[in-house]
Amino acid sequence: MRSGTGAAPVMTRNPVVIAGAGHSGVAVAAGLRSRGWEGGVLLIDAENELPYERPPLSKELLKDGASDESAVLRKEKFYADKGIDRLAGVTAESIDRDSRTVLLSDGTRQAYHRLVIATGSRARPLTVPGAGLPGVRSLRTRGDALELKRLLVRGARVAIIGAGYIGLEVAAAAAAKGCEVTVLEFQDRVMSRVTSGPVSRHFEQLHGRHGVRFVFGAAVTSIDGGQRAESVTVADGTVFPADVVLAGIGVLPNEELAADAGLECRDGILVDGDGRTSDPAIYASGDVTRFTSPIDCASQRLECIQNAQAQADRVAAHITGQAAAEPEIPWFWTVQHGVRLQTAGVRHPEDQAIVRGEPSDGKFSVVYLRKGRLAAVDTIAHLADFRTAKRLIAQGARIDPALAADPGIPLSEATSGTPNHSDADLAAARS
Ligand code: NAI
Repeated sequence: MRSGTGAAPVMTRNPVVIAGAGHSGVAVAAGLRSRGWEGGVLLIDAENELPYERPPLSKELLKDGASDESAVLRKEKFYADKGIDRLAGVTAESIDRDSRTVLLSDGTRQAYHRLVIATGSRARPLTVPGAGLPGVRSLRTRGDALELKRLLVRGARVAIIGAGYIGLEVAAAAAAKGCEVTVLEFQDRVMSRVTSGPVSRHFEQLHGRHGVRFVFGAAVTSIDGGQRAESVTVADGTVFPADVVLAGIGVLPNEELAADAGLECRDGILVDGDGRTSDPAIYASGDVTRFTSPIDCASQRLECIQNAQAQADRVAAHITGQAAAEPEIPWFWTVQHGVRLQTAGVRHPEDQAIVRGEPSDGKFSVVYLRKGRLAAVDTIAHLADFRTAKRLIAQGARIDPALAADPGIPLSEATSGTPNHSDADLAAARS
């Protein structure tokens, strides 16, 4: 299906071809037009529907009575008005960098002036015996979410593998629908990839109050059943009966298109601060990329909408030869049983964690210090800390741990020393 207006893209002058129409791909297309790009813009969309918002898929969309329609990123008219061509139900199969063309799954070849790879990530597949049985699901697309919604009926026994964002958001939705939910997590606490012990404990207790059961240190060895999944077995031999099994065990970047074309990849397509790959005519943006953080020089792959959009803007700026906005501090959020966790910055496991406030009050923050500077924050019902922390992280502010531990002292008054980029050691850390 081809939608949009204007001449066929092959004929368009200076076409920018964007492989992938998730948050980042669509944002690149929109950003090119808002920055005045007059050449062609072609979105290659693997899915057969208007590009949509992903956050509701593991939250609102699963609720009883919720519409099966999810919010679209842009209305059909937007693409037409902006002269953005969209090929739906088609994937980019390979790149010929010499002729600057992309081979598409419909057999056609598309010339590009600039190519943007925004192919995102896919659910890491469960590889144990029985993982292919009907009833074993993952959640990435709107189709996945609708199928899962159909299976989450009152009384269903739901085994969720992985206590990350997906596992916990689905656990909350399933519990609210009256399912019997067991979460099997390999690590010893929930959301261990992204947060610290106090926040993990808070969410574990919250889920516990809603009837969700956790098993930690659980290494799944098989899914068993006849016609469909009936149980999950873990390494110590315990068997968990299940009508539905959801695997939420992380994602893999869809980097094969780039890797096969010889672009540098290392668990993500390597890009610079402008989204440029190792080929000057090819950019990459969003979940599929790996880059050096301008904040702390760490090599990172960020799986969040904020990054998908910010990186897209930088790509659009570079293609159009314009200045990009200053890099923003990455931020994330999740909502489980109506409780919102907002995170700014990227915590490292070795950071010093300081709790501000009493978790049992339902309102607290955890600030993370790296070499004395604010590196990240988790906030629960504490928007003031979230906003202040974003600013202080950007400034590289030094924090006095004793002051930060006192919730009565605003975070902005817990700083110490010279809170700005001119500090010699900060400059050294970032050089
Ligand atoms: P995740 O990385 O957040 O969590 C995966 C969890 O599975 C980890 O706790 C890990 O220890 C566990 N795990 C891995 N292998 C396992 C195994 N074999 N057995 C048991 N546990 C195992 O990934 P998740 O939850 O799958 O999310 C996928 C993607 O979706 C991520 O990119 C995430 O950022 C995104 N997402 C973000 C949301 C948000 O920001 N609110 C909501 C939903 C998804």
